[in-house]
This record gives sequence, structure tokens and C-alpha cells, in this order.
Amino acid sequence: MKVLVIHGPNLNLLGKREKDIYGTKSLEDINNEIFSLASELKIKVRTAQLNSEGEILDVIQKGDYEVLIINPAAYTHTSVAIRDAIAAVEKPAIEVHLSNIHKREDFRRKSFIAEVAAGQISGFGSDSYLLALRAAKNILSKK
Ligand code: DQA
Repeated sequence: MKVLVIHGPNLNLLGKREKDIYGTKSLEDINNEIFSLASELKIKVRTAQLNSEGEILDVIQKGDYEVLIINPAAYTHTSVAIRDAIAAVEKPAIEVHLSNIHKREDFRRKSFIAEVAAGQISGFGSDSYLLALRAAKNILSKK
């Protein structure tokens, strides 16, 4: 597997949760868009939705990917542990957010992940994941 997409806590509720902010697509809709673009770009992708920080750490530590795309959701703003796991694995990570975290509450402006990520894509709704997949493709093609 080349690209692993991790959807963090509460993202299983997409489509029902704060639709004005996160849109009406379900996580399944978004995953289908990811798989469809991945097949067009000819990259192998796997997705996982994990609510607990420990499970996210386990998957990152396993390192069974070449590029990580991660929407850490609320852990973005709190988790030194996820930041440290990404740094430890030394593989490129792309941080994704559906909403523009810089345009919302002050506490969302701080990302512990950004400083260990190759880049951050925030504010394009479900397209944020597709833009990240294109960025992952570029990273893989430079290897
Ligand atoms: C989010 C933004 C986070 O601040 C929030 O806690 C989320 C989703 C986004 O995709 O816009 O759960 O990561």
C-alpha cells in the first residue's frame, strides 16, 4: 500500500455533523471519491477512520505506507503524541482539513501536526482530500 488516509475522531459522523461547516457528504461518499481518484492516478490507497488517539498512533507507528494523508480532526489542536509519531516514522505526511481551520475559533488555528507535515490543505471541503492525493502522487513520483 502506498498511501494511507487516516480520518480522525468524529469524522464517521460526516454528513450528519455540523453540515454548514463540514458539508453533506458522508465519509463513505468521500472515501469513494478518494478511491476513484486513486485509481485514475494509479496509486494504491487505504483509508481508516479512528476515533481514539492510541489507535491512530498504532497505525502511524506501523508505518505501512509511503505517504500518509491525515485529517487528525480535533487531535490536530491537542496531540503532541500524533505529532511525535509522525516525526518518528520519518515518512511524508499531508495534513488535511475540510474546513479552513485558520478562519474559525482561535483554538483551531494551532496545529501540532503542521510542523512535521510536508504541507497542510485546509478549507476545500472533501476536495481537500483529493488535492492531498494529488500532492501524494507528486511526492511518490519524485522518489
Ligand atoms: C477538521 C477541523 C477540526 O478543527 C475539527 O476538530 C474537526 C474537523 C476539519 O476537517 O475541518 O473535527 O479537522
